[in-house]
Amino acid sequence: MDLISAKEAASKWDISQRRVIVLCSEGRIPGAQIVGNSWVIPNGSNKPSDARTKDAKIKTGDAKPFLKWAGGKSQLLKEIEQFYPFAKNPKITKYAEPFVGGGAVLFDILNKFELREVYISDINSELINTYIVIRDNIDSLIKVLKKYEDEYLSLNNDERKKVYLAKRARFNELKTKKNNKIELAALMIFLNKTCFNGLYRVNRKGEYNVPMGAYKNPLICNENNLRLVSKKLQNVKIVCGDYKESESFIDDKTFVYFDPPYRPLTPTANFTSYTEGMFDDKNQLELAKFVQKLDKKGAKIVASNSDPKNANEDDNFFDDAYSEQNIKRVSATRMINSNSEKRGKINELLISNF
Ligand SMILES: C[S@@+](CC[C@H](N)C(=O)[O-])C[C@H]1O[C@@H](n2cnc3c(N)ncnc32)[C@H](O)[C@@H]1O
Repeated sequence: MDLISAKEAASKWDISQRRVIVLCSEGRIPGAQIVGNSWVIPNGSNKPSDARTKDAKIKTGDAKPFLKWAGGKSQLLKEIEQFYPFAKNPKITKYAEPFVGGGAVLFDILNKFELREVYISDINSELINTYIVIRDNIDSLIKVLKKYEDEYLSLNNDERKKVYLAKRARFNELKTKKNNKIELAALMIFLNKTCFNGLYRVNRKGEYNVPMGAYKNPLICNENNLRLVSKKLQNVKIVCGDYKESESFIDDKTFVYFDPPYRPLTPTANFTSYTEGMFDDKNQLELAKFVQKLDKKGAKIVASNSDPKNANEDDNFFDDAYSEQNIKRVSATRMINSNSEKRGKINELLISNF
């Protein structure tokens, strides 16, 4: 029997290679089989009837975080949304999220409300570059990412490893340069989708050093979601820098959500470092002071963090730092140290001034 690769079928049917692989694994293409590590398809197979075309229009739906990010808040949304003030208080028309990370709360708010002004920032410049490129250069970004996806999915594991390491090296090379912003954003997404656990970790020299993950069919280019995200970001002010730069944006019409890096539960907890910078107890206390300053300006504020009482009942670090605010303890499942086996239900803090 004459067989063709998934890549050849993708090009013949004008759909993505990933879609061909999904159709094969769903048993939708008679005679498709795995040879080595890859799917092969009888030449002359018919394109399954519902195969999406490459240029499918954006389907309606909600924009979702486009990266997996440490400390992502998707599972706490139900608790955090109780605080959204927009429906109850029409005077609040602005939103600021100065530690945006993957933006779980940002996208939830952008999906639910039409706001007059939105401000996001993060100290991680590669992350912020990705937000800006998605907002301003979505077509070019998708073109590059699709190329990466097709290339990666057509390879066996050893070949994938080589490509992964080459892309990681290229990412580190571009990190230090200021040009090639689209390529850098595409590499950021590619690495996030193919690395171990979606981690972002750098070594002392500031080089991204996460090894390859073990995903069989990673969705590297989620075109529909990227286009939805791009649409939602059109009027968002996106800033690379310290959270304190948000001060001039924030006023009595603003809802602010602060999600800083967690205070480690134990001194030995091997905590994920997001950037070259650290966020120690001194930084946590500075943030608490900043919250008080914004409180005086009349902003509506929510901040989240880990509850030190998970490890030590007598640790009142945040109760003392935020003695003028309300503190709600909510239950969450999260990785409590670097060993992913040790996931458990623990409390998190939701601190608010209203
Ligand atoms: C817990 S994560 C935020 C997670 C986010 N809420 C989500 O759903 O993905 C904290 C973020 O703060 C950023 N960060 C660390 N120090 C910062 C600073 N001084 N100013 C602004 N952002 C900072 C990190 O790069 C990281 O993305």
